[in-house]
Amino acid sequence: MDILVVGGGGREHAIVWKLNNSGHNIFCAPGNPGIADIAECVTLQVNQLKELADFAQLHKINLTVVGPEDPLTNGIVDQFEKRSLLIFGPNQESAHLEGSKAYAKKVMERFNVPTAAYMEFDDYEEALSYVEKQGFPIVIKADGLAAGKGVTVAETIEEAETALQAAMLQKIFGESGTKVVIEECLLGEEMTVLAFVDGKTVLPMVPSQDHKQVFDGDRGPNTGGMGAYSPVTHLEKWIPEIEKKIIRPVAEGLAAEGTPYRGVLYTGLMLTENGPKVIEFNVRFGDPEAQVILPLLENDLAEVLLAVAEKRLHEIDLSWKAGASVCVIAAAPGYPGPPIKGLPISLPKNFTAEKQIFHAGTALQNEQLVTNGGRVFGVTSQGTNIAEARQRAYSLMEGVSFKGKHFRRDIASKALN
Ligand code: AMP
Ligand code: GLY
Repeated sequence: MDILVVGGGGREHAIVWKLNNSGHNIFCAPGNPGIADIAECVTLQVNQLKELADFAQLHKINLTVVGPEDPLTNGIVDQFEKRSLLIFGPNQESAHLEGSKAYAKKVMERFNVPTAAYMEFDDYEEALSYVEKQGFPIVIKADGLAAGKGVTVAETIEEAETALQAAMLQKIFGESGTKVVIEECLLGEEMTVLAFVDGKTVLPMVPSQDHKQVFDGDRGPNTGGMGAYSPVTHLEKWIPEIEKKIIRPVAEGLAAEGTPYRGVLYTGLMLTENGPKVIEFNVRFGDPEAQVILPLLENDLAEVLLAVAEKRLHEIDLSWKAGASVCVIAAAPGYPGPPIKGLPISLPKNFTAEKQIFHAGTALQNEQLVTNGGRVFGVTSQGTNIAEARQRAYSLMEGVSFKGKHFRRDIASKALN
């Protein structure tokens, strides 16, 4: 198949890598230097929706696959479908599930999906006085998209005030933060369950666990994700309940309302002592969850994505490799604040098939690979079990070098305890 992948981060590198392993011909817009080794990069940005559709039409692309949330919330799928171009992802209306936390909360309410109690505010003083009444810890979320950084788990009034001021008064997330959702803080272990959904059929993928905070031991500010592993054997007993009480009611409920969801439905969960509760929905593959899940998938990914786009997912059986996968993010100095760009990078040359270095924030400057974003690489490996995959990922990390590189040293340690 001729496939256009939209995006240029670690998740898209993993998608392109997986598609390339099945022998497809891939274009990627805009891609990155790692992707350029296995696909033809196209100089279009992810929000040039009309130009991307023109490209797909001109090059007779069989399927377009959208990686990041931005073009989805901007309506890329609607644009392509208007021109009868096959595309994988939810339309603009469905993408609100990620684009607005308040919208997602209302969907959960309608279908009785367990989640944290919440209130929404667009007035700073009202938000602050609500927080004071509720007590701590409490969770403050920018309503709109904020690249994984719009959430603060505040332990004190000072932290809450800082978060509310930053979002609502200083508007550090732009319009995304003028409205906030304030939530009860859930306690427990987190897990991500991605599912392919074609409007009717729901096929959950193997679960994974992300590591959101920047420092070991889940400390420090939230990031887009500092590493992930899959499967999550010690939490697998929750999967049937998650499917039955969360994923199916949402997929079936939205279909019954006449707005069927198509694409990957990302469910971020907290496994509390009262059972699984939803932390968030996203409308795409997770990053870095995709980097660990896709290497475990036996199927030709293109066939699965095409079946979703053509609403015949019932024809697909997913099958997963035995063993485990671990991804550790190598981050640039400064991340999750503004990262230092342009730092020269050196990488190990030859490594074996069960190891992958997915590029996330890299660029070429005069043929020198340099840092170009906060998360620079997803250093990934598979093994017969988590311990082996993890050991391989960390040994691969030793060969990834740039000034000020930082990474968590405890990725997947919860699976080993
Ligand atoms: P989100 O962007 O909604 O995924 O939130 C980012 C991270 O903040 C999550 O992965 C959790 O670690 C944390 N978080 C979000 N909501 C809650 C909550 N209600 N209770 C506890 N932690 C939360
Ligand atoms: N890893 C979190 C996300 O993709 O939103």
